Amino acid sequence: MFANRVRDILKDGEPETKVNISGWVMTIREFPEFAFIELNDGSSLKGLQIVADKNIQSYSVVQSLGTGASLSVEGLLKTSKGKGQRIELHAETLVLLGGTAEDYPLQKKRHSPEFLRGIAHLRPRTKVIGASMRVRSACAQAIHDFYRKHGFYYVHTPIITASDCEGAGEMFQVTTLNLDSIPKTKAGEVDYERDFFARQSYLTVSGQLSAENLACGLGRVYTFGPTFRAEPSNTTRHISEFWMIEPEMAFADLNTDADLAEAFLQSVIGDVLERCEDDIAFFESIRKFKSPFVDMTGGALIENLIKVSQTPFVRMSYTEAVRRLEASGRSFQYPVEWGAALQTEHERYLSEELLKAPVIVTDYPASFKAFYMYLNDDQKTVRAMDVLVPRVGEIIGGSQREDRYDVLVERIKHHGLDPKDYWWYLDLRKYGTVPHAGFGLGFERLVMYLTGLKNIRDVTSFPRTPKHAEF
Ligand code: 4AD
Ligand code: MG
Repeated sequence: MFANRVRDILKDGEPETKVNISGWVMTIREFPEFAFIELNDGSSLKGLQIVADKNIQSYSVVQSLGTGASLSVEGLLKTSKGKGQRIELHAETLVLLGGTAEDYPLQKKRHSPEFLRGIAHLRPRTKVIGASMRVRSACAQAIHDFYRKHGFYYVHTPIITASDCEGAGEMFQVTTLNLDSIPKTKAGEVDYERDFFARQSYLTVSGQLSAENLACGLGRVYTFGPTFRAEPSNTTRHISEFWMIEPEMAFADLNTDADLAEAFLQSVIGDVLERCEDDIAFFESIRKFKSPFVDMTGGALIENLIKVSQTPFVRMSYTEAVRRLEASGRSFQYPVEWGAALQTEHERYLSEELLKAPVIVTDYPASFKAFYMYLNDDQKTVRAMDVLVPRVGEIIGGSQREDRYDVLVERIKHHGLDPKDYWWYLDLRKYGTVPHAGFGLGFERLVMYLTGLKNIRDVTSFPRTPKHAEF
């Protein structure tokens, strides 16, 4: 049904079979009698070697080829005599699909991450971004496979919402009001009655609140969708539009939640290592020359991923984590004290240096966590958990949810929110409330972890960050 792809030919192509293949020219080397053309169609890291004999009728095409041109080749597969490939394609007919120009920006040399981000429309043709996108795709598939296997339903929650799930006020507002002439009420305020939804609405920061409603009907669900955060922070780990996977389980507490997070990460890491052997091996290989794309922390990539996929994660309370940080004798940029949020430097110290493993930190102070987390008996901490991994820091944030009506009302008020706006969320606690728990995994952070890439912009096709919405 579909045409041949380089990946399949490299793997299973039989000598003396006729194939037709299309792709982009990576390199051309001309000799007196023939030319070698390396053609890549995006299906694999390696291209297919095309051998074009000077005697073929369409040889003139070779003279007009440049790096980046698109080409269709028909010919016979032959066992390669050269090193570096098992099989090559001896061209019978060459058809130029699209020529290219001298100023094609992806000439054969190493380009900096910054340069490639400036040509995000062309960078999918590079090895590093091609491999990153392929790993991302395999990772998404592995995630769906995991949840399906464990009886979770894939649900879709709204992208446009009227509630701030995290209560952090980092939402992009959605409006159809004319910003050049904003309708006002008599009191001089913006008249949201006249906005599209007759109220203020936003792009969601998390599908959790809706996922809880679905879990308290379907038992086990997960979302996998885009989420948006208007955080002004310009870091290597934050983007304004990212994808989150949010499982939610009824009849589950924080321990079960941590068990799920561990089993989930281990399974997906193991799966991706298997499915993307070549691409992950490529990410390992570019560490050897300290490629500016990678975070060199922790040494080998594959060995560490295998280890992580097989060793139980460390679990400790926030209180214990603070004690360990204080005992470290380190001088951190942000001071460590009970009651303060853990910063990336603290998270990385714990997982990267102290424990050299993923760590699940639980029972954080209620003061800096969201309103929906279950309040512990000490009245000071909540049943929250963050999963921290080397290189990336926080990869998962989750909790057991507050399932007691009265406590939740108090917590909503305490956070300066209006219980009236959460009537449907509170209803869950009124009618057949159950212990339930879930978490959110930042998809891009997982892909960073799997590839060893150091900037979230390089695991995202067209990243949205403050002041950047090009492409
Ligand atoms: O810890 P967060 O804010 O948790 C929630 O949103 C919960 N409602 C999830 C839940 O319990 N269902 O975000 C979850 C994860 C973080 O651990 C991080 O991996 C990722 O989302 N994340 C980001 N990834 C990229 N860019 C950003 N700006 C991110 N903010 C959070
Ligand atoms: Mg978090």
